[in-house]
Amino acid sequence: MTTKLRLIPMRTHYCGDLRATDIDQTVTLFGWVDRRRDHGGVIFIDLRDRTGIVQIVSDPQRTPDSYPDAENLRNEYVVKIVGRVSQRPPESLNPKLPTGEVEIYADTIELLNGVNKQLPFVISSLEAELVREDVRLKYRYLDLRRDRMAKNLQLRHAVVKAMRRYLEDQQQFMEIETPILTRSTPEGARDYLVPSRVNPGQWYALPQSPQLFKQLLMVSGCDRYYQIARCFRDEDLRADRQPEFTQLDMEMSFMSENEILALNEGLVCYIFKTIKNLEIPRPFPRLTYAEAMEKYGTDRPDTRFDLTLVDVSDIVKDSGFKVFSGAVKSGGKVKVLPIPGGNEAISNVRIKPGGDLFKEATEAGAKGIAYIRVKDNNKLDTIGAIKDNLNQEQKAELLARTGAKPGDLLLFGAGDTDTVNKSLSRLRLVIGEQLGLIDSDQVNLLWITEFPMFEWNADEKRLEALHHPFTAPNPEDLDDLKTARAQAYDIVFNGIEIGGGSLRIYQKEVQEKVFETIGLSMEEAYNKFGFLLEAFEYGTPPHGGIAYGLDRLVMLLAGEDSIRDVIAFPKTQQASCLLTEAPANVDEQQLKELQVKSTYKPKSKSE
Ligand code: AMO
Repeated sequence: MTTKLRLIPMRTHYCGDLRATDIDQTVTLFGWVDRRRDHGGVIFIDLRDRTGIVQIVSDPQRTPDSYPDAENLRNEYVVKIVGRVSQRPPESLNPKLPTGEVEIYADTIELLNGVNKQLPFVISSLEAELVREDVRLKYRYLDLRRDRMAKNLQLRHAVVKAMRRYLEDQQQFMEIETPILTRSTPEGARDYLVPSRVNPGQWYALPQSPQLFKQLLMVSGCDRYYQIARCFRDEDLRADRQPEFTQLDMEMSFMSENEILALNEGLVCYIFKTIKNLEIPRPFPRLTYAEAMEKYGTDRPDTRFDLTLVDVSDIVKDSGFKVFSGAVKSGGKVKVLPIPGGNEAISNVRIKPGGDLFKEATEAGAKGIAYIRVKDNNKLDTIGAIKDNLNQEQKAELLARTGAKPGDLLLFGAGDTDTVNKSLSRLRLVIGEQLGLIDSDQVNLLWITEFPMFEWNADEKRLEALHHPFTAPNPEDLDDLKTARAQAYDIVFNGIEIGGGSLRIYQKEVQEKVFETIGLSMEEAYNKFGFLLEAFEYGTPPHGGIAYGLDRLVMLLAGEDSIRDVIAFPKTQQASCLLTEAPANVDEQQLKELQVKSTYKPKSKSE
């Protein structure tokens, strides 16, 4: 990914662009001193700009004018260098560097700015140093000079550029901005609120997504909208969640679900081709939500490896082992994660209380892990409570259903379905990784479809929309909306949800019914979304869309583990910016003008 940049006056070349074809040219370069090395009278400077590094040489014989200045340079000084491109001698060729065949003999070195304080960490990638993340975030502008971060930012830019090229040039999408100061959009997280000075006592909400506006744009006849949209969600943060993040947000009219998925496969393939030169086969595999939960225990399965869950509830429902029979009787499930060769690879200690796998399962809500080892004679070696509580027939059925072979280990989850799925899918991932079953170079993209419209919110004792309440139900399921499947889809990349969307409701009556199902009274519904319901009365086209988490996609393409590493100025897990120290106190006067008073009482030291 080399980008040719337009030159600013006087600069003739960027550092990283120089090649053997430039030999004998006199060039003018600007940049930072990445490293300066003094080799007994000859000074070598690695000069760095955003395109890369080139070697500058100064010595008292060949370049007497620049030598005193070269001696004074230190790391990260900003300089202008004029010099001649030369062939490096054979012993100093550097095949690792794109500019490694050449070096510049500096006629003049002009110091444009020095460094007056001790650098908090080494910038040069050639002396790569592990730096604590809080230090990196505090000095983010220096962190972004480092090779890894600079590359990540360039990659992010290239991904956005590819998105724009595909959507605008090949698919007639139009980018339209939507408001940041707006009303609450129901994506399920808490809102960030902004008080209005001119409307005292009233509040804007920052958008959790442009969902309602993009639907209104369809009512306006925009037909194909996209936006690189900033979204704000006040939720618990993780490595793949930030309080403000960026979506590639899209909406289109008059398209079926299949057409939308096909267009999006085109987009994703275009991105992979442009960025990674990879051809991804189309169509992408599809799993229904029900299939994904059944086989993988999660709606975002990592399908790069084969371990799958097997439901054995019917086999063990009458067994004498109460944990199994009890789970099934109370409406739950018993599922097995068979691990081929697991007898050797996984010891009892790891599965029993105190073991790492036990910990993983219990952190996901399970009470423990029951297990069975398949022995050489194809017999099951059961231990503990299971031992005498499965009869021969049940054991034989277990072997047949799970396809287990001698040497395999069967891990069981029993209890309410949700907990069983959560704990076994977590074990599946951990074990897959530990046994080296995951090929990190593989790219697995798949669609999850037919999500349920609603899920039960046990705290609030009501149904809530699984995606959002504007998602259209499957027309076949209209008779019983509560159990209806939605025309919704997520796209999953190596086990991470990178995007999700749906066909939308575009008829007022259906929208009202959905509000009613999630316990929103008509009055509340009109109060919150009256503008949308009214818009539906003026000729709304059938429409649907999707939004990608841009940060997540770039994180995966960059091979990073956290979206913080692909965002220029991210927040910490505590939602603060260590560089600007936001959030911060504000003047009393500002609060007064806003007619806002804080009720927060700082804890006294003794508390
Ligand atoms: P959804 O809420 O699924 O859908 O969001 C779409 C994608 O955005 C990413 N994402 C996040 N990334 C970083 N930090 C976060 N806090 C965060 N939350 C979500 C995920 C997710 O798949 N309006 C709908 C889309 C639609 O229906 O068209 C929406 O926002 O990758």
